[in-house]
Amino acid sequence: MRKLILTGFIAMVAAACSPAPDATEIAVIPQPSRIIEGQGAVQIGPDNVKTAVDSSIANPEGYRLMARNGIVEIVGGSDAGVFYGLQTLEQLKDSAGYVPVVTIEDAPRFRWRGMHLDVSRHFFPKEFVKKYLDILAYHKINTFHWHLTDGIGWRLQIDKYPLLTEKAAWRKVKDEKAPWIGLELSDESRKDSADTYGGYYTKEDVREIVAYAKERHITVIPEIEMPGHSEAATFAYPEYACPTARPGSGIYCPGREEAFGYLEDIIDEVVELFPDSPYIHIGGDEVGKEQWSKCPLCQKRKREEGLKDEHELQSYFVHRMEEYINSKGKAMIGYDEILEGGLAPNATVMSWTGFEGGIKAANAGHDVVMVPLDYVYFDHYQSQNPCEPQAWGGYNNVKRVYSFDPVPADIAPENARYVLGGQANIWTENIRTPEHVEYMLLPRLAALSETLWSDTTQKDWRRFERKLERQYDRYAAKGWNYAESAFTPYIAEQHFNPDGSLTLRLATELDGYPVHYTLDGSVPARDSDLYADSIVMTAPGTLTAVTFRNGKPAGCVLSVPNLLNKATRAKVSYAAPYSPAYTGGGDTALVDNRYAFKRGDDKAWQGFERTDMDVTLDLGSVQPVEGVALRFLQHIASTSVMLPTRLTVWISADGGDYTLAADMPVAPDNDSEVVIRPFDIRLPAPVPARYVRVRAENMGTLPKEHPRGGGSAWIFTDEIAVY
Ligand code: ACM
Ligand code: ZN
Repeated sequence: MRKLILTGFIAMVAAACSPAPDATEIAVIPQPSRIIEGQGAVQIGPDNVKTAVDSSIANPEGYRLMARNGIVEIVGGSDAGVFYGLQTLEQLKDSAGYVPVVTIEDAPRFRWRGMHLDVSRHFFPKEFVKKYLDILAYHKINTFHWHLTDGIGWRLQIDKYPLLTEKAAWRKVKDEKAPWIGLELSDESRKDSADTYGGYYTKEDVREIVAYAKERHITVIPEIEMPGHSEAATFAYPEYACPTARPGSGIYCPGREEAFGYLEDIIDEVVELFPDSPYIHIGGDEVGKEQWSKCPLCQKRKREEGLKDEHELQSYFVHRMEEYINSKGKAMIGYDEILEGGLAPNATVMSWTGFEGGIKAANAGHDVVMVPLDYVYFDHYQSQNPCEPQAWGGYNNVKRVYSFDPVPADIAPENARYVLGGQANIWTENIRTPEHVEYMLLPRLAALSETLWSDTTQKDWRRFERKLERQYDRYAAKGWNYAESAFTPYIAEQHFNPDGSLTLRLATELDGYPVHYTLDGSVPARDSDLYADSIVMTAPGTLTAVTFRNGKPAGCVLSVPNLLNKATRAKVSYAAPYSPAYTGGGDTALVDNRYAFKRGDDKAWQGFERTDMDVTLDLGSVQPVEGVALRFLQHIASTSVMLPTRLTVWISADGGDYTLAADMPVAPDNDSEVVIRPFDIRLPAPVPARYVRVRAENMGTLPKEHPRGGGSAWIFTDEIAVY
């Protein structure tokens, strides 16, 4: 994946002279099947848009739109087709209400054009869910996968099991969970949890949302997670989890008959609430099997049913649930893990870990929805600039989403029909506000919609890029909060020249916008240097660059300090080795002027397991040294990477005799989110030196409150600058 992304960057650099956005082109997203342009325009008035349904349009979601002779006619294959024609019309219309004379024939490539929202990790109010549906409809998305239950939040009223939505349950789970992530809950985070972790939808709310979606031709697919990801539920009702598990363990017990009764009761209420959904989604993903292997009831079930392992036990569970769901007239859908131990006979597979599960299922004649995380997880980052809000996992920029094709080559052509379509997912562990959800959704949803609606022959990144320029303005006009990450400049390439200078090449995801930069640390303005094909630095400096759109900064500022500092390309000797698993690029990693992004898997981080980072830099000649700048990563909640406990700097003119120049303890930081802590160690006065030894002390063993308590602590660093 990483290779693919890098190739993309280089291709973009090569094409940096592409034309600027075109204001006259018909710019409809998703791209229609066929556009026949005419001359002139039609002004939309109160009664010159005529709509009709005509069965001669084969695809019920298809439509024909004709704007000519002073009227606009939209003929749909059904009401849905008419609705999509109206969405297209809205994009054709300019601010004065004119649409160009045009004939458009259009129909979707896929029938499952999905968008998911996790309302469990953080709750989002009914009014926002409606806004979300408006945004989906505008992009011709027809399926809303509503992830209603997970982890600490059960968000759906169930009359028979009221404790599921009682605040006490999630509050206690939250409190239980806090020590697990190695944190003491502060008063502030307790208040925060009261504000954002509480909440659920009443049955009335659900009916209202389902009806609202229906008016927009969106089917709402409810998801009730099982047998895992059910912490709140198993906290509220531990009698349906394994008797050997702690409360809130999150996994139901397939050895307990009453657990099936409970889940069937819930399905009964869900079926009644979602009459139009052909599916019930059961999740089925990421079930740790250890609890079952320690549970006498589970082991008894295995013996009685002749199941050979816990995978088959999961399969037994899923088969039983499918049978029940089918008996209610609904189909079951679940994540690719439902393939483990044998797939239930009628199940539809939602393939998230990659394409493989979907390929396997389609080739076995099962319906499939493709949701591969490396393309369409919208909880992943949109740019590698530190300005991005904390996100989960990898990096899926707009172009990456656009490159997604739900039908990979490995599906036999005769089985391609089993791929119903695709979907993008938004998990909300790191997303607390509606504005942030919108930020993660837009403009990536535009790329997704074109991938799911438009035929592959109609996909064209260059044209899409030009259309996006217009789409941003539409989002702004609607008051939707979109990300400008695609404008944010980044260093696409750098190399050192024989004369010691440094050449940098910048790129942005979207081409055709001016990038201005400075080398003195000041924020670039429109009269700062305009980036052309490269920047050659011959003296130390801080690169600061920003893209301008319509005369205003767009996206985030790129800022890279201490380029070409005194340590750049110094010879580095290590008193203790860096980890072979996290080399950061090897012996030059700390002096190559390459900074890492906040994710721990960024290849620019150099890691030290249990040992100190203890390096000596040879500057090549005696020079006045005024200070040392370096930084460290910490991510307590999900890694073993910790801040160092102490920093020391020694300097020497001859490499034999060292003087202690700085010695500072580092206070611990219990922030569970990603921390990149910069240190600027300024000496009281410049000292002549050729050798600079920098030591960062590793805590060695993780404290017992840490989720991996007792394990090795790691130090991650990326660059040491000497000035
Ligand atoms: C998933 O992301 N665990 C389906
Ligand atoms: Zn059990």
